[in-house]
Amino acid sequence: MRVLGIETSCDETGVAVYDTAAGLRAHALHSQVALHAEYGGVVPELASRDHVRRLLPLVRQVLAEAGLRPADLDGVAYTAGPGLVGALMVGAAAGRALAWALDVPAVAVHHMEGHLLAPMLEDPALKPPFVALLVSGGHTQLVQVRAVGDYELLGETLDDAAGEAFDKTAKLMGLPYPGGPELARLAERGRPGRFRFARPMTDRPGLDFSFSGLKTQVLLAWQGSDQSGQTRADLARGFEEAVVDTLAIKCARALDRTGADTLVVAGGVGANRRLREKLQALAAERGARVRFPRPAFCTDNGAMIAFAGALRLQAGQREPAAVTVTPRWDM
Ligand code: KG4
Ligand code: ZN
Repeated sequence: MRVLGIETSCDETGVAVYDTAAGLRAHALHSQVALHAEYGGVVPELASRDHVRRLLPLVRQVLAEAGLRPADLDGVAYTAGPGLVGALMVGAAAGRALAWALDVPAVAVHHMEGHLLAPMLEDPALKPPFVALLVSGGHTQLVQVRAVGDYELLGETLDDAAGEAFDKTAKLMGLPYPGGPELARLAERGRPGRFRFARPMTDRPGLDFSFSGLKTQVLLAWQGSDQSGQTRADLARGFEEAVVDTLAIKCARALDRTGADTLVVAGGVGANRRLREKLQALAAERGARVRFPRPAFCTDNGAMIAFAGALRLQAGQREPAAVTVTPRWDM
């Protein structure tokens, strides 16, 4: 079964073809980072318009790269939420129209399920059960995955998501948008130990997170500092270590609680080098294993939507006649 995947929930237009027999056939991404940079964040109306402009050329490009004609597709998967409603509507409308014209089934995919299953995309040996850490700009969750479609939320953030904390902290220190990766780059030059911030909610039991206090701590430290380049790097280092340690402590707890021997990590913050190293070390210590998608499939992409959609179509899921998107949607 060859499934076209379409991702337009935020500021990346992603398209891919996943083949259940041959794996990922092709994928392409257009990032709108440059478009939104001057506003310091994503402008929803501009995002929708750009998805309209980019989507069909990307579909054409992906089909050409895969050596496929539209008629070779057996299904179309699109992100139906959560995300920006106008942006989601672009992918939903295009996906449903394509599926109708090709007389193949369409399937609405939950964006976070796409992230959750992304580690399996290029690792056929990886199968549930496992514990997943989902760390993106909008979500921070620990999920027990018993089977595809059988998920239990173990814990989540009570305020800011981990990626959001990276972005907001970067912004308050004057780093350009999008701040998360920029802050992580800066932290590479930062000296460990100069700033030590709290590891929020690790001193009590439970698997929930809270990251909003951390940015306030960084803000106060930044305001009281000489605001030099080295200080900024040192602060970035202290902040990154606090987030990474906090995530690692909760991952260890989630493995203990569930008895799982596999941890998978997905979402944009999963691209963070220090987090990857820390979780690798943690897993090695306990004889567990940790799996990450490659960094390009940690952040938003069409491949994870094609993959999740293929699994859902294989399981017999089909769409109702109405085209709907769900800007806020629990998995
Ligand atoms: O999954 P994603 O691409 O989009 C959402 O669904 O949110 O995640 C984007 C988030 C942003 O907050 C971004 O700052 C963060 O992931 N991010 C990083 C890194 N790369 C992306 N955060 C820390 N370190 C990175 N290397
Ligand atoms: Zn995402």
